[in-house]
Amino acid sequence: MDAAAADLTARQRYKLLTALVVPRPIAWTTTLNEAGTVNVAPFSFFNVLGDDPPIVIISINPRPGARLKDTLVNAQRTGEWVVNIVDEALAETMHQTSAEYPAGVSEAEATGLALAPSKAVKPPRIRDVPFSLECRLRQVIEIGETRRLLLGEGVHFHVRDDIFDPETFRIRGEKFFPIGRFYGNRYARTRDQFELPPAVVE
Ligand SMILES: Cc1cc2nc3c(=O)[nH]c(=O)nc-3n(C[C@H](O)[C@H](O)[C@H](O)COP(=O)(O)O)c2cc1C
Repeated sequence: MDAAAADLTARQRYKLLTALVVPRPIAWTTTLNEAGTVNVAPFSFFNVLGDDPPIVIISINPRPGARLKDTLVNAQRTGEWVVNIVDEALAETMHQTSAEYPAGVSEAEATGLALAPSKAVKPPRIRDVPFSLECRLRQVIEIGETRRLLLGEGVHFHVRDDIFDPETFRIRGEKFFPIGRFYGNRYARTRDQFELPPAVVE
């Protein structure tokens, strides 16, 4: 099939894009609300889009009824968040934190998630993930009435010691098991990797 984007409904575009552009990395995001409660939620319309400086973008849509998501409200108000990269061990907890807990309820407390202090921003990081990137807001890009892209700069890196080789600055692939998101409640493991020879002009 082929179709002009404008001839598809929003739902149809969502179904196609989220099923076809896969697997997507997941930004498991921690923010602080006004009362200082830690909010945790996953976002897979996300990627790292630069390294110098480190740039991340997270795309947040409204809830039905147009209520803004807590992550967006908190990140816009404080200008800070932490992107935590999820591995297999924390997949179920990550998934659970996407449930619609009322604003003010900490998904971290509700799911028993261990947190650890950040260094450069106030929201804590998730303690046991392989990687956390502390981020500061650079720009909010408004798309339409309600979708917002949070463009942030990564200002502090935390790499879990067991996956990091300080001598080579390499990640130990045999200990790093990130997951990606497919459509809906489906996820992918990343254990089945393959390598190709360097590309040369033939
Ligand atoms: C793996 C996964 C990825 C998600 N990606 C997004 C996303 O990219 N954008 C979005 O608005 N919601 C996304 N969601 C839904 C949010 O996580 C969900 O609405 C959450 O309750 C928002 O929480 P908050 O109000 O505490 O920010 C995703 C959910 C899951 C499970």
